Amino acid sequence: MANVLNAPFIRSFVKTTSNMYRLGWDERNGGNISYLLKEEEVAEYLDLNGVIRTIPLGFDAKALAGKYFLVTGTGKYFKNVEEDPETNAGIFRIAANGLDAELLWGYKDGGKFTSELPAHLMSHIARLKADPENRVVLHSHPTYTLAMNFVHELDEKKFTHTLWEMCTECIVVFPDGVGILPWMLCGTNSIGEATAKKMEEFRLVVWGMHGIYGSGKTLDETFGLVETVEKAAQIYMLTAHLPRLNTIKDSEMKELAEFFGVNYRKDFLNL
Ligand code: 13P
Ligand code: ZN
Repeated sequence: MANVLNAPFIRSFVKTTSNMYRLGWDERNGGNISYLLKEEEVAEYLDLNGVIRTIPLGFDAKALAGKYFLVTGTGKYFKNVEEDPETNAGIFRIAANGLDAELLWGYKDGGKFTSELPAHLMSHIARLKADPENRVVLHSHPTYTLAMNFVHELDEKKFTHTLWEMCTECIVVFPDGVGILPWMLCGTNSIGEATAKKMEEFRLVVWGMHGIYGSGKTLDETFGLVETVEKAAQIYMLTAHLPRLNTIKDSEMKELAEFFGVNYRKDFLNL
């Protein structure tokens, strides 16, 4: 059987965690990623009957029973995933009862999946309903996005509008806008449920004064979503205290969205 460390899904996962660390978005153990794998891609590298251990999920994920996920480990540092993926991440299947993870690879030091697994798996369930191709949920603490949380109203329309105004391409990249949750206790089923509810309509959800969640079909697409929000937030933080002389008008954002044929949140523009 081929070495799983050479699997394209591990290579792209490692590349993503390294890039996120390099950009300063994921200090210490900050951030986590879950990647829905296809059974046939896992079967090329791992014995599907070789369950190493069973780990209780702590919530009901029946809607994902039989599905395979590659997920970062709790307490693990993104900066270390590249040198030792097998300790810092794991691959598991959701058991038929929907209540356990059947570990097939990884968490080598006896560890387990991220403490934010409820938000990840509940978001996967929500996003798969909106887009059957969705495979990635990613959480991070990008610096400028987080900074913006402290100085900008945490209102979905206003926050999205400000981000859209900061870079010409924002409305094209995330026409569905950014959902926002107030500060909540992380690592809980409640924040998971609240995140998943937002994920029914948004691919991006800000966790007030904590970080951001993104979802998408591929790691690159999902990373790119968060990267674009972060770039816009950076421009905002670099200019918010200065007199604004120029701005991208709402009529121009509408023109962009129409030209690129994206289905944007019309109620987030003031036209
Ligand atoms: P984990 O180390 O459990 O993944 O938690 C990191 C984090 O960002 C919590 O929100
Ligand atoms: Zn976090």
